[in-house]
Amino acid sequence: MNTLSVGIVGLGQFGTHFVELFQKHPRVRRVALCDLDAGKRTEAARRFGVAETYDSLDAICASNLDALAIITQPWLHAPQAIQALRAGKHAYTAVPIISPKSGSGDEILDWCDRLITCCRATGQFYMMGETTYFRPETVMCRKRAADFGQFVFAESEYLHDTWLPACNLINVQMARTGWSEPEVLAAGGDIPMHYPTHSTSAPISIMGAHCVTVSAFGYALPSDLYFRKDSVTGNVFSHEVAMFRMSNGAIAQVTESRRNGHIGHEGVVRIIGTESSYEQDTTDEYAGRWITTTQATRVDPRSYRDPLPEALSSDLGGHGGSHAYLVDEFVSACTDARMPKINAWEAARYVAAGVTAHQSVMRDGELLQVPDWGDAPS
Ligand SMILES: NC(=O)c1ccc[n+]([C@@H]2O[C@H](COP(=O)([O-])OP(=O)(O)OC[C@H]3O[C@@H](n4cnc5c(N)ncnc54)[C@H](O)[C@@H]3O)[C@@H](O)[C@H]2O)c1
Repeated sequence: MNTLSVGIVGLGQFGTHFVELFQKHPRVRRVALCDLDAGKRTEAARRFGVAETYDSLDAICASNLDALAIITQPWLHAPQAIQALRAGKHAYTAVPIISPKSGSGDEILDWCDRLITCCRATGQFYMMGETTYFRPETVMCRKRAADFGQFVFAESEYLHDTWLPACNLINVQMARTGWSEPEVLAAGGDIPMHYPTHSTSAPISIMGAHCVTVSAFGYALPSDLYFRKDSVTGNVFSHEVAMFRMSNGAIAQVTESRRNGHIGHEGVVRIIGTESSYEQDTTDEYAGRWITTTQATRVDPRSYRDPLPEALSSDLGGHGGSHAYLVDEFVSACTDARMPKINAWEAARYVAAGVTAHQSVMRDGELLQVPDWGDAPS
């Protein structure tokens, strides 16, 4: 397959950021749009000049498109990806694989298992659109893996305060559910470690190692309005910190936080190796320090980015310029008939780490084994 036809499913706040990137990609010959909401569908079709539209996932699955990029609400991804794969399409979803409204970790692990089984059975590709994977500092640390020597310790985080002025999560939830503010508050906050991929993807992908065991703790704000026992998930923890033993013997500390007086940060904080280390500036996404036993040197990790097709390189999109790389990786993998880098097996590692961390939080830090589905078939 030299070129790809792609349908973008979900034209909400996030999905619309990806339409032009797919349109511009030189290996994409046709783009279609799909949303249940007629207003969003019509507006996006007009804005991006797309004639081919669908009003449901069922309808777009019946088309002859090669691939679907599914950027719907986080509790829908896994079943929708499986529907697309079974319809003979390659499937991309936004993160995570799934975060069910019920807050059931067992349900998440079950969907990881079903997704991997479906990829095996259909031979179609699944890719999860994890933005941290293509942030420049993650890319740089992966490329300079040998310079670290042996990996000793990795620290990563996703700090996103619920009421962050730049992106208030109550408003986001109102947009995703159609609920009023009191309804969103009554339902309560999601489990932080059930949306763990912005943090867990960094140590796992940089070290090329997976999480084996975990001990984790949670912080509960007394009388929290949002993270409460009488919420849908019953989760009181707004800030969860996990310590993982990795398959390479290193330690990874991962923080998922929805309560913090911080401007917000996602991804690498620090990587320590026996030969050198890296520390990210958590308030400047393009600044960090490469450190050895004799010196600390300021680096701009953007210089480690890979080349992109020219049409995509002038505007890389958000989240550290990762959007263009996500689109290029999905399109290239499908057209070259190779497994995407953030495939179902890799994505399950990011997700299962968070699920098990929350289980440990609920058992006051008990050491637990992280399930693993192994490496993706090549
Ligand atoms: N850094 C990141 O990776 C990042 C950042 C923001 C959002 N996201 C992810 O992006 C996803 C979308 O977020 P959003 O804020 O745009 O949500 P949104 O609610 O604004 O948009 C989702 C859209 O999907 C549509 N949809 C749902 N089911 C459908 C179906 N069966 N067929 C067609 N359309 C359907 C809805 O009508 C809606 O318009 C979420 O899963 C979120 O986790 C990721």
